[in-house]
Amino acid sequence: KLNTLKDTFLQDFLIGAALSNTQITGADKNAINLLEKEFNSITPENDMKWEQIHPEKDSFYFEIADKYVALGQQENMHIVGHTLVWHSQLAPWVQNIKDSSELANTIETHINKIVGRYKGKITTWDVVNEALNEDGTPRESQFYKVMGGENYIEHAFKLAAKADPNAKLVYNDYNLWKPEKRAGVIRLVKQLQESGVKLDGVGMQAHWSLEGPSIEDIENSIIAYSNLGVKVSFTELDVTVLPNPWDLNGAAVEQSYEQYEGDPKMNPYPEKLTDSAQVKLAKRYEDIFKLFLKHKDKIERVTFWGVNDGQSWLNGWPIKGRTNHPLLFDRENKAKQAYQNVLALK
Ligand code: XIL
Repeated sequence: KLNTLKDTFLQDFLIGAALSNTQITGADKNAINLLEKEFNSITPENDMKWEQIHPEKDSFYFEIADKYVALGQQENMHIVGHTLVWHSQLAPWVQNIKDSSELANTIETHINKIVGRYKGKITTWDVVNEALNEDGTPRESQFYKVMGGENYIEHAFKLAAKADPNAKLVYNDYNLWKPEKRAGVIRLVKQLQESGVKLDGVGMQAHWSLEGPSIEDIENSIIAYSNLGVKVSFTELDVTVLPNPWDLNGAAVEQSYEQYEGDPKMNPYPEKLTDSAQVKLAKRYEDIFKLFLKHKDKIERVTFWGVNDGQSWLNGWPIKGRTNHPLLFDRENKAKQAYQNVLALK
């Protein structure tokens, strides 16, 4: 019987993890050892985002990104670039641009420089991230507003394809299981395809919880995206076990998460996960991977948003200072019950 994630699913899909800055720079050897053993794809959690890699108009910061790519090459991994055009974690100088052609040129320089530098090394690019609202309409980001519509998306994809014709190009977003947002993705993908843009995949971020989304909603999206002729990837999988300050439809109670900081009701597992929660998490991951296996012909990659629970952004978001347990490996890099359940599916 096979006993690692990557070997278990070798014929099905890639198994990835997002790497933190500490992991990339080598300060966290244990996580890297686990990575080598269990995973065959990597994504940089923060170090290739615009504010990091292109903080000023005329300065690029490639030191960490270079290390990240070198690590992936050394380990012979599928290397993901994350992310070229995104409204969040954007450099302030880009946020200040008011002129449409200046912003178009800025995107061009950004993509040519970064995709060009890692040509033939980065296997897959998240070209555009989170361009849609929850109802499927275009998000009115800096790019949308200044360039006067969704044309910045086509612009970005065309530039990426030109800078590295062999890279796989992905549109990435969250809550893509939602029927209304799904309709928005379908509209966008068709629009890009009609204008001759190379688009290889849709990335479903997959920041989920024990309660939702339903397997049925996820399945409907996998099928709908695959029907457009693109591959589906789960690019940022984690399953929060903590109470969320919004309802399942994402109708955000987004005002002041600060009010929950330090509230013990919002942090029920400050030391370790209880046995019953451990079992619930395991069952949830089992259901999710059962679905992935059912549609393995449509799925390219399943990437966890972190190697272990200690690294997870969900310890600090949306409420600071909590102890979350959303991944397959705990804070000691030990496999959890969820890991056993997932491997047992094969
Ligand atoms: C998150 C990182 O995990 C955090 O460390 C950072 O503070 C904020 O961004 N969607 C994405 C990811 O595409 O880049 C985000 O990553 C999580 C949501």
